[in-house]
Amino acid sequence: MISNPSILFGLNAMEELDQWFAKHGSRYSKVIALVDENTMEHCMPEFAGSLENLTDFELLEIEAGESSKSSEILFQLISALQELGADRSSLLINLGGGVVCDLGGFLASTYMRGIHFINIPTSLLAMTDAAHGGKTGVDHNGIKNLMGSFTHPQCTLIWTDFLATLPKKEYENGYAEMLKHGLISDRNLWNSLSQSWINKEEIGPYLEKSIQIKTEIVEADPHELNERKKLNFGHSTAHAIESYFLLKEMEVSHGWAVAAGILVEAELSEMKSRLPFIEKDEIVSRIKALYSFELLKGLKVEDLHPHLLNDKKNRNHALLFVLLSEIGKAVVNVPIDFTEFDLAWKKCFGNV
Ligand code: GLY
Repeated sequence: MISNPSILFGLNAMEELDQWFAKHGSRYSKVIALVDENTMEHCMPEFAGSLENLTDFELLEIEAGESSKSSEILFQLISALQELGADRSSLLINLGGGVVCDLGGFLASTYMRGIHFINIPTSLLAMTDAAHGGKTGVDHNGIKNLMGSFTHPQCTLIWTDFLATLPKKEYENGYAEMLKHGLISDRNLWNSLSQSWINKEEIGPYLEKSIQIKTEIVEADPHELNERKKLNFGHSTAHAIESYFLLKEMEVSHGWAVAAGILVEAELSEMKSRLPFIEKDEIVSRIKALYSFELLKGLKVEDLHPHLLNDKKNRNHALLFVLLSEIGKAVVNVPIDFTEFDLAWKKCFGNV
């Protein structure tokens, strides 16, 4: 059971959202839905057809993909809201994956100093992570989430039927964040998810558990002063990989980069935070059985160094990582130097 009442989950969730509109809809001067071309085609018909109490709304459509999470698109959307006559009483609905929820959340949190928004994640990644917890973000100058805010949606609808049309690669992308939730907090969840892929039709209970893990961590530390940093396990490396490819104008998926980050940071955990060898070995062999990392074989590890320095968790130019002391237990603020990082990287991806 998910303890945050603003996260609507389960068989009655769409009905609950309809009731939400029945109760609160009249307070909004205008409702605008932000979609990408995929969610427009695959998710909007079911969404619009399911809500009796939301009959009239405008649409804003962006191209799918991380390149839309940019300051340029943000400014275009601000102009589009202005042209639509959106005012401070307007409501934005973000119907999409992590890009739509991050970008739409930031748009809503800044337009006219902030308007209300609802997140309706349509990818596994956004359902398990990006759509709740209050983080919004936009990339700038090749740096992931250089702009962002902590702003919570009015509510988040998790409707797993949307996963039916999600491509396999995107499903696997989100699955990595669920594996991470198990590794930092719940050995049973890790065990269930990591031995082989759990298919979409059976993912519901594991997704619920994964959301609950994040919810508890966010409730304990909403502004990421300490405990919430645990959610960034695998992410120091992942963001460096993503930023490296972003500069090369190649898009790699966030979850795949997190899976790579889990490998490197498991090696670092054995070196620096006493993760037992046998547990490190289990993490590495199971992650490598689920994901392929061929793309990283030609990458020179030194090329990641400048990107590692941009990590928001660092202090005074020192790299600070989240590592594991055992499966199910994370430790934060572990100082790492480049020599240690390079060694861990080479153990995972070879001697480049
Ligand atoms: N995605 C990590 C967090 O919400 O803190």
